[in-house]
Amino acid sequence: MLRKTLLGLVAATTLGAGTVAAAADSKTVEVMHWWTSGGEAKALAVLKDGLKQRGYTWKDAPIAGGGGEAARTVLKARVSSGNPPDAIQMLGFTIPEYAEQDYLANLDSLAGKEGWDKQVPAPIQRFSKYQGHWVAVPVDIHRTNWIWANKKIFDDLHLAPPQSFDQLVADAAAIRKAGYIPLAHGGQPWQEATIFDSAVMSAGGPKFYTQALVNLDAAALGSKTMEKAFDQMRALRGMVDPNFPGRDWNLATAMVIDGRAAMQIMGDWAKGEFVNAGKKANVDYLCFQYPGTQGDFIFNTDQFATFKKGDPSLPAEHAFASTVMDKSNQAKFNQIKGSIPARLDVPADGFDECGQKSMADLRSALKNGTMVGSFAHGHAMPDGPKNAVYDVVTHFFNSNESSADAVKQLVEAVNNAK
Ligand code: BGC
Repeated sequence: MLRKTLLGLVAATTLGAGTVAAAADSKTVEVMHWWTSGGEAKALAVLKDGLKQRGYTWKDAPIAGGGGEAARTVLKARVSSGNPPDAIQMLGFTIPEYAEQDYLANLDSLAGKEGWDKQVPAPIQRFSKYQGHWVAVPVDIHRTNWIWANKKIFDDLHLAPPQSFDQLVADAAAIRKAGYIPLAHGGQPWQEATIFDSAVMSAGGPKFYTQALVNLDAAALGSKTMEKAFDQMRALRGMVDPNFPGRDWNLATAMVIDGRAAMQIMGDWAKGEFVNAGKKANVDYLCFQYPGTQGDFIFNTDQFATFKKGDPSLPAEHAFASTVMDKSNQAKFNQIKGSIPARLDVPADGFDECGQKSMADLRSALKNGTMVGSFAHGHAMPDGPKNAVYDVVTHFFNSNESSADAVKQLVEAVNNAK
């Protein structure tokens, strides 16, 4: 055990210094990701093709598990045994964590040549760069405060997108009475955390969200406003079906697609499943913001980092990064994935109404400074406190704990994890 740990450390140190052996085949790029649902896999094919056109082979290393927790665990193990993939999908604070240890290739020369600085919004660059250097390339901008609804159920019951949380509660009761499941949910901590993003925003708005979940301010975390967010979580818990525990997010989306359930609260990768099933926005399904978060933009952005290996002129790393940043790849990829491009110069035509709305809301959130990072997807706080908050949220959702007690737990958990 000790020997293994030491070996791991030696390998990791060597790799950190950038002297690790070159990839087995310099024309192959091994890419680790967690895009295994139907919609995700289809979107990924755009990048695979793009890399092929640049003369490289894509070696696929998928690690199933929505939100990427399993992939992050596998990555840790591979890095500590000195065998990281060539490129890996990463979210938010995971990027600086690896950059700090000197694992990631510096992509500045390509960034300069391709003009990324001008095209990528600053809140995204904050994660793409470490100490001012490009170490990751963003392929998309997802938004978590969406509700996806079955249009036929809404039409039949004469419902419109709810404008307040109380209206959502009333609509859910009418949906239940008509024999449908109001809310399709998958009981996994990251999915509960995804809903919590919206509940906190709805209860307190972008300033409060930032104070609580980004600045980790104890007064905000312990406030009555935070209690309201938990009250919303309690009400949402009452809208799910008994089989929710453990369900994957895309199976929950399928329940809305099939008309078994009326709504899902999920990031816009859910739209990728509707698209993949041949469904059309505002014909088969509705997309609207979680009530009380209209206009607010809670983002997460999928980025890819490349690991320092072999050739210091980085030919394979550049081919890969250039594929991800390619303007037309970003258009095609995001139309399938459900997200919007990470580059601001991709035209809106070709995107459906949900995509165009997201693009417009992004631009005004950027202007107003109200674009905030998703707690659930690692863009609000580092992993330590994030995992502590995950535990509090999931425990609350799956028990009868009071909101007042949950808020106390939250303050304590963050304090211990800081
Ligand atoms: C990623 C998305 C992905 C989703 C479900 C999120 O963390 O940002 O790209 O589709 O997880 O796996």
